[in-house]
Amino acid sequence: MSDFLPPLTSRDLREWLTGWQMAGVTQLPEAELPEMELPTEQAAPVYQKAPIVLNTDSQNEPELLISTPTDVPHDSSPTPEMIMPPANQKAALSRLAKKVAECTRCQELATTRTQTVFGVGDPNAKIMFIGEAPGADEDAQGEPFVGRAGKLLTKIIEACDMQREEIYICNILRCRPPGNRNPSPEEASHCREYLDKQIKIVNPEYIVCWGSVAAKNLLDTETPIGKMRGELYEYAGAKVLCTYHPSYLLRNPPAKKFVWEDMQLLFADMGITLKS
Ligand code: URA
Repeated sequence: MSDFLPPLTSRDLREWLTGWQMAGVTQLPEAELPEMELPTEQAAPVYQKAPIVLNTDSQNEPELLISTPTDVPHDSSPTPEMIMPPANQKAALSRLAKKVAECTRCQELATTRTQTVFGVGDPNAKIMFIGEAPGADEDAQGEPFVGRAGKLLTKIIEACDMQREEIYICNILRCRPPGNRNPSPEEASHCREYLDKQIKIVNPEYIVCWGSVAAKNLLDTETPIGKMRGELYEYAGAKVLCTYHPSYLLRNPPAKKFVWEDMQLLFADMGITLKS
């Protein structure tokens, strides 16, 4: 492959960059990237049914066995157009946010919302959080997870020795369903293009689905959240953890210990031990 031709796969890209690096190039100029359109086949979920299984049989320290899925022949490794400098990620997200602000795909939501709630946080975050949908506080402030559940989420983040700003936070829906009802499948599918584009732009290493609505929609599964938690799944090249929604924890505080176990699992996978 010529050094000047754009790489075709992520492996090509790695080889191409290594070639430049060996030639003494340490920085490449930033390209003016066009707004990304997802090819239709990539907009489909890439849920790999074979999870990354946590093996706790023989050790105190959990070991992750990454099983190679045989049933899904989908290559979900990041494609070259997914790798962009942070400044371009920020610009791509704000272009997308403008488009979302004008969205009228869900007639009811578009007429009842105060504003759209796009997402917030580091455009280059290692971890992306996905919740369900904005509530009344989020609808009023235009930011996800700012109400009671959001305050608990912030506490969980801080207990993990991180700051809210280091994470990218968004929802399955970008508009508040009236009366905080669950998003309908149609609403979730209308909003899916935006979610998938946010994932592509941020390109996180980890995604946390907070609650069953997020897990079910992202991974296209009917498995209850209590069965999903405690394992890592995969979506679009990111490892995915599903755990209880902070609103559920407000109603059922004893479940906090399971969320903490899930955070320990997530951070252990990053090589970080969270205090017990
Ligand atoms: N609950 C969610 O799932 N998302 C929010 O943004 C707020 C509450």
